[in-house]
Amino acid sequence: MLLLSWLYKSLSINGDKYVGSIYWIIIILFLYMSFTDNKDSDNYSTDANGWEIIKQFIPTDKILYAPFYNDGKQKEIFKLMGFDIIHEDEDFFKNIQTKEYDVLIDNPPFSKMKEICSELKKRDKPFILIAFSKVILMKWFQTLFKEHLQVIIPFTRPTFTHLTHPKKGYTPPFGVQYYCYKMDLPKDLIFL
Ligand SMILES: C[S@@+](CC[C@H](N)C(=O)[O-])C[C@H]1O[C@@H](n2cnc3c(N)ncnc32)[C@H](O)[C@@H]1O
Repeated sequence: MLLLSWLYKSLSINGDKYVGSIYWIIIILFLYMSFTDNKDSDNYSTDANGWEIIKQFIPTDKILYAPFYNDGKQKEIFKLMGFDIIHEDEDFFKNIQTKEYDVLIDNPPFSKMKEICSELKKRDKPFILIAFSKVILMKWFQTLFKEHLQVIIPFTRPTFTHLTHPKKGYTPPFGVQYYCYKMDLPKDLIFL
């Protein structure tokens, strides 16, 4: 109580408790904000089928890191497949250069794809990213990864579930592929 009262007083401007309250509300809202508030169209979780089809390419002896949380379902799906992954609701950009992991595996928010890829290139560790098909045509993507890139192309499109507007069996119209960097897969182009 004492701490709260001190904080309340410390936040009041020129003794104006009304302004202090506004600051409090902003701070509380900030604490409750999640990355899912950034861009609604980024908030799709990959359904189990999207991970199961590439299970054979996911290493079993490495530390796996999935930094993009959404609703956290990826951890449950991977657990059912026999993997324990690092999957927490934290800022990718804050953590990526220091996080201890071997392989990053996730479906990144497409709206931040370029910035995320730049960070991944700086870290230069293996990854498997689900991303829209045309990313491979983008000059910035080729410049970053073409030396060590392998692609897995699904025969049946994986499905995704939106956080707040779930629609059974949704697949994006642009199609997705699995972009693998420094994964040392048996072939550069793998058709499932
Ligand atoms: C496509 S979803 C990924 C869902 C999940 N990993 C999966 O594949 O099932 C991408 C999520 O990244 C999250 N995100 C956006 N910016 C982020 C950031 N800077 N750090 C961590 N997560 C972020 C958003 O909350 C968004 O829901």
